[in-house]
Amino acid sequence: MTMPRSIILGCGSYLPERIVTNDELAQRVDTTDEWIVERTGIRQRHIAEEGQLTSDLALAAAERAIEHAGIDVDDIDLVILATTTPDQTFPSTATKVQAALGMSNGAAFDIQAVCSGFLYGISTADAFIRSGQARTVLLIGAETFSRILDWEDRGTCVLFGDGAGAVVLQASANGADKDNDASAGHNQERGVLSTHLHSDGKLNNLLYVDGGPSSTQTVGHVRMVGREVFRHAVTNLAAVVDEALDANSLEREDITWIVPHQANKRILDSTARKLGVSPDRVVTTVDRHANTSAASIPLALDAAVKDGRIKRGDLLLLEAMGGGLTWGSALVRW
Ligand code: UT7
Repeated sequence: MTMPRSIILGCGSYLPERIVTNDELAQRVDTTDEWIVERTGIRQRHIAEEGQLTSDLALAAAERAIEHAGIDVDDIDLVILATTTPDQTFPSTATKVQAALGMSNGAAFDIQAVCSGFLYGISTADAFIRSGQARTVLLIGAETFSRILDWEDRGTCVLFGDGAGAVVLQASANGADKDNDASAGHNQERGVLSTHLHSDGKLNNLLYVDGGPSSTQTVGHVRMVGREVFRHAVTNLAAVVDEALDANSLEREDITWIVPHQANKRILDSTARKLGVSPDRVVTTVDRHANTSAASIPLALDAAVKDGRIKRGDLLLLEAMGGGLTWGSALVRW
């Protein structure tokens, strides 16, 4: 049986103009540039202007991805937007982007998996394409995380930033043979090879917002037991990388680039060390972008594609962990 494979045709990203340095934050809370750099690797973050919404960031990233992919807006039949900071509780931010793009066909919806949102999105997009329910999917990760931070809490406010990244996925012209095994060349073809999602809701007290429409009728602020989240991140991310490689009969040495969620440079380094992968093969943007939740993977991907590091045929391992806890990976042949 043949089914289409999802090819990533293009990518794009957008960061708000305003840059906030660690020194600026040190004027607001009891912290220092040294502490933030040493414990997280973060040097600065971009923060959206007042009135600049998640949908504005998402639209800018989407337009760049559509241009890079060389498609027409009318080709898109599904918009998926991963975010924890929607413009409104409803309608979905995806439908706002759909309208702003001038689309009048297809479907649009949001996905909520916090920092794993882009991976949940790529898995969903891939499932729609493989099942024939969609041919061209615009997938966006976009956040204005600055809006849900407690700017008095030094344990969280220094960690996050705003931004958006997007990709266009399209069904390949020649389908992948589902009955073929990896040794028959399946893992050498271009496109999404596999995705792997996990969650453990018993751990949702480690990273959450203390509000919501149904509970407090407020948006709430980010709360995190940082050290515990860190511990789970290193263990779960290494495991999910191996799971993805095993599913495709590939080895750690086959990975050209790890494109991880950017939460903390120490998590990126520890995961790379645990996997025996050189830190040079990890795309790192956390120093400049900080943690942009669902936007961080497509922002990192776009940076490495546009500066020429990621080339056609490279094997990319995307991985993330976030609130829920949720975590996952995707293997993509670029
Ligand atoms: O994207 C979703 C996933 N999120 C993550 O993966 C985040 C995972 N966690 C982390 O990245 C780290 O745990 C943090 C960066 C959040 C914290 O680093 P840590 O090395 O785990 O520090 P800690 O929480 O154990 O705190 C150590 C000390 C504490 O002081 P005491 O109790 O030892 O006196 C904190 O109060 O550092 C203090 N501290 C700060 N000091 C200066 C916490 N935040 C700050 C700060 N500036 N901004």
